[in-house]
Amino acid sequence: MAQISGWQYNEMKQVGTDFTNETEVGAYDARMQKLRNIKEETEMILSLLHITQDQILLDIGCGTGEFTITAAGRCRKVIAADVSLPMLEFARRKAEKRGVKNIEFHNAGFLTYGHSEKPVDALVSSQISIVG
Ligand SMILES: C[S@@+](CC[C@H](N)C(=O)[O-])C[C@H]1O[C@@H](n2cnc3c(N)ncnc32)[C@H](O)[C@@H]1O
Repeated sequence: MAQISGWQYNEMKQVGTDFTNETEVGAYDARMQKLRNIKEETEMILSLLHITQDQILLDIGCGTGEFTITAAGRCRKVIAADVSLPMLEFARRKAEKRGVKNIEFHNAGFLTYGHSEKPVDALVSSQISIVG
């Protein structure tokens, strides 16, 4: 879990939809499958990024992992960060079920994710709303 200093905005605090609730996370995932054409969105983002098999991608706010998991099949590794532990757990289980192993999950966000390895080749963040 990421560390937050006293002066820093606490991005780990949930706002809007309660993504700390496991039932809500499952319902969110099912809702998104109906409301969005996630496959098309994913393909569009990946084609804009020109990501290749040897590259590393950072997905901030990975949610239930749909984009992350498809992207992992097109690159060396995806680093998937999210402030919601239930979201990460849901995404991790989904990746496991689909046999995808090259995803590194981090419970962190825009302000708290600390990158300590080789620079990433691309960064994605989609459908995130930040309320101060
Ligand atoms: C609407 S979902 C979108 C998930 C995914 N990116 C997608 O396109 O389906 C928003 C996600 O952003 C996460 N989130 C909200 N604020 C964040 C922050 N400051 N840093 C990282 N993730 C954040 C939420 O926990 C949630 O999983």
